[in-house]
Amino acid sequence: MKVVSQPDEMKNLSRTLQRSGASIGLVPTMGALHDGHLSLLKRAQKLCDTSVISIFVNPAQFGPGEDLAQYPRPFEKDCELAEKNGCDIVFAPQPADMYPSSYQTLVEVEALGGKLCGRSRPTHFRGVATVVLKLFNIVMPQAAVFGQKDAQQAIILKRMVRDLNLSVRMEIAPTVRESDGLAMSSRNAYLTERERFEVPHIYQGLQYAGELYDKGEHNVARLRTAVMDLYNAAQTFTVEYFEMVDTERLEPVEAIDATTLIAGAFCTESSHTRLIDNIIVGGAI
Ligand code: PAJ
Repeated sequence: MKVVSQPDEMKNLSRTLQRSGASIGLVPTMGALHDGHLSLLKRAQKLCDTSVISIFVNPAQFGPGEDLAQYPRPFEKDCELAEKNGCDIVFAPQPADMYPSSYQTLVEVEALGGKLCGRSRPTHFRGVATVVLKLFNIVMPQAAVFGQKDAQQAIILKRMVRDLNLSVRMEIAPTVRESDGLAMSSRNAYLTERERFEVPHIYQGLQYAGELYDKGEHNVARLRTAVMDLYNAAQTFTVEYFEMVDTERLEPVEAIDATTLIAGAFCTESSHTRLIDNIIVGGAI
């Protein structure tokens, strides 16, 4: 496995690979790799000849007061995991090489970026879109794999690819969970023992919504009340939002009669960890 840190070196390597006829599958990450990330790598390996994992804790997507400094960076362990799982190339640039002091350009996916998580993180998705477009231009992948865990991110990036006529095949892979249902996340490491014990209720609430929907309850107000009763009983986390929205415009729906994203963001009381999770009913993204 090759580890590349210079964007220009990565670009040259990608050009050489492509001249030899090899297709490239990219899995963008911020590191602290877990089984969720590794499931995306597997998907990239199935789709393409060469797999690239990028590891970059992207400053542009963290707001003031967020966990940029605290974000875990176990780089050597990540490289070992990537190699053990058959990754061909790790691309891990330095912030100064991605955003030199003269840097000015941002990519804004306008309305979608302000919905759901965008309300409390107003500059987050433009940071994500900017870095992912940069990664696409550097790695030049034929396919890129993202997780449904970050459904709004996936929907925004798919919009960017269509809007900017990019030629990357976008693959969205299912959320990988711990045995008690908690969605795997690098941020789970911040949780206290008491919080960790209770946060599986987040997914239980989503599953409950899914079960009621399957039994024929398609009215959003009633579905929402049923799940919020459960969430409001939680001692260690509060709900930032819990919404049911269409998967094209992320607008709230009143009744579920098409593909619908049921998504929530939660904040734990003691470690102030922000957790997100979702399910999609009536179709897929
Ligand atoms: P990060 O949080 O490291 O996630 C990298 C990719 O892994 C994303 O596509 C995310 O949706 C996916 N992922 C995370 N947890 C998952 C899980 N439990 N199951 C399946 N997939 C999971 O998302 C980012 O980084 C960044 O915003 C990035 C796209 C790299 C841009 O900086």
